[in-house]
Parts: sequence; C-alpha cells; structure tokens
Amino acid sequence: MSKATVGPEEEEALIRAIRSGWVTPLGPEVDAFEAEICARTGRRHALALSSGTAALHLALLELGAKPGVCVVLSSMTFAATANAVAYTGAEAVFVDSRESDGNVDPEMMLETVRVLQSEGREVVAAIPVDLFGRCVEYDVLDIGLAKLRVPMLADAAESLGATFNGRAAGAYGRAAAFSFNGNKIMTTSGGGMLVSDDSELINRARYLSAQARQQAPWYEHTEIGYNYRMSNILAAIGRAQLAKLDDFIVRRRAIRQMYVDAFSDIDGLRFLGSAEDIDGTAENCWLTAIDLGTEIGVNADEMVAHLDANDIEGRHLWKPMHMQPLWKDSRAFINGASETLFRRGITLPSGSGLTSSEIEQVIGAFRSKLGRS
Ligand SMILES: Cc1ncc(COP(=O)(O)O)c(C=O)c1O
Repeated sequence: MSKATVGPEEEEALIRAIRSGWVTPLGPEVDAFEAEICARTGRRHALALSSGTAALHLALLELGAKPGVCVVLSSMTFAATANAVAYTGAEAVFVDSRESDGNVDPEMMLETVRVLQSEGREVVAAIPVDLFGRCVEYDVLDIGLAKLRVPMLADAAESLGATFNGRAAGAYGRAAAFSFNGNKIMTTSGGGMLVSDDSELINRARYLSAQARQQAPWYEHTEIGYNYRMSNILAAIGRAQLAKLDDFIVRRRAIRQMYVDAFSDIDGLRFLGSAEDIDGTAENCWLTAIDLGTEIGVNADEMVAHLDANDIEGRHLWKPMHMQPLWKDSRAFINGASETLFRRGITLPSGSGLTSSEIEQVIGAFRSKLGRS
C-alpha cells in the first residue's frame, strides 16, 4: 500500500549518526530535524517524538484534556487519534465526515462544540484529521473554533507536505501532530513530531516527553512523565527522508493520475480529492482513495478480496470510530457519510517506490473485477 522508499541517503545518514557517538534519544540530528520541520511547515517550534500518537497525547495533556472534559474529533480516522484522547481520560465525542472526501464536516464539528457547550460541557480541544494526505477545511474550522474558544489540534499524521490555501499542513491550529510511521509519506521507521507556535506548549511537552524530570542535580519528579523522545539515529533517517519529500509527492501524484486516467471510463466511480494544486491547496497524495459508488455493483469487501487474490494490497478506508466496538457507547454526531464511505471506499497501492508496471498490474486486476479489459 505504502512501502517506505529508502536508499543510500538514509544509509549514509544512519552511519553519520552512529559515528557521531550520539546513539541517544537526543542529539544534533534531533535538533536539526526539528528545525527542518519548522522550516517546512512555517511553525516556530517542533518536538520530535517516538510516534504521532505521542504527539497527540502530549498536546492534549497541555490543552487540558482530563476526566470530566470533552474532546471533539473526526470519527473517520485511524484508532490512534481516539486512543490519544482515551489516554487522558477525557470524553471523546465523534463527528462525521463530508461524503465528498471523508474529511470531517467542518460545520458539523462546530455545531457539535456548540451543542456540548450549551449543555455546560467543557470542550478543551477539537481534532480534525487530514485524511489520506488531504487537508480539512482549515479556514472554516480556524475561525469557527476561535469564536467558540476551543483550541484546534490538527491531526496531520497523514498530510505532511500537503497545503491548504498556501499554508502547509501542520501550520493551522494551536498545535499539529505528524507521524513518521513506516507507512507514511516519509518515515523514520517509527516516530512523530509535534509542532506549534506556542513555545510554552512545546517546552512543557518536551519536559513531559522526557519523564518530566525537574532541573536538579539528582532525579527530581513532581509530575507523571512519559518516555516519548525520538532517538538521534531515527532523526537522521527522518532528515534524509525530508530532503526527498517533494520527490515522493511528485511520484505519488503521478501514480494517482495513472489511476484517474485508467478509470475515467468507469461510471459511478469517484476519486476522493484531487491530484491537482488548486490555488495553493494540494494533497500530498499519500494514498489514493476511491469511492466505488453503487453503479458498478461491487462493494469494498469484494474489491479488496479480489485484489488480495491477485496479490495486491487494497484496503478499506478507516472504519469510523463510532462504528468500532470499542467506541460504540460514545457520543457521536452522525450524518451517514463515513458509514457510506466505509462500505464503498478503498485505498489503492500508492507507494513512491511502485513502478509503472506494478501500477498497471493493479489497474488490470481492478478492471478485470468489473469485467473490463
Ligand atoms: C490519522 C492518524 N493519526 C495518528 C496516527 C498515529 O501515528 P503513529 O503511528 O506515528 O503513532 C496515524 C498513523 O499511524 C494516523 O494515520
């Protein structure tokens, strides 16, 4: 689906980091990686961490997430977004998607906050998720949430390199979280980054990420901390990957375009999002996602099984959190869009390292299921 593309540059970076003697969870590669992510996203501060989930968790703690308060978040997401809320003990309240692209319905997210506030509930954060590398409607959410005095924590785990209205993914909100998990558009094999313009938030998160150790000559602790730092070795890989991020995006965009061209004759099939840059809004094309619609008479289950039988990894879109057994009793504001997309949607192999003949193979298998050559 999205295999990491690594080569001699990553190998060199690893050797450089090892030879430097900084085989530690901090060091010059971590500092440089944080500075480079700031430069890429236009943020003032960045904190390299062991995962995107850790970035969400620490940001939520800093925003005041705890038992008794609410966090509003996209229902259609990977479990990590909701898990981070659960770690804090806050109540997760889920919001449905727009059918057009699966991203959270921004008006519905704002309305959810209004309803909760009218009930006297405290909403400490709203987490919209940039699905499959496409930014949510940041303009509507930014203004709307500011009016409601609710900080936005952007889950940009999947969208590094994407833009919205000329600003980078991760540049919106009080803070944003990236993931460098092995399947993302760029990777450190496992890792994440928290970014923000708020120095206090990042400083506090940095302190919590290193077991909340106080400044003292001995090990002094007044709060519970976490072991969430990124290693210097992995940051070196991240820097080599970041230098190639634009190439990865170009390749993934080209792959998306191959699929678009190959399926243009299939009525009722629809791509989620677009491979184009429209007025400074562009996806990173991390994954190509398709709504199979109803006309072709094949649902997501059937297509995923068919691709699998042909040794091709197709995947269902994220199963919405409000449909998950774990979250079935949670409060959710639902319009049916994410359930529809879950039934009909799949992602197609999109890794930057895939060759054109491998993409042709996917296209051939996909078309054969529809009885087309
Ligand atoms: C939307 C979303 N949020 C959060 C995460 C968590 O990132 P990580 O795996 O680095 O913890 C991921 C990916 O794994 C993700 O896709």
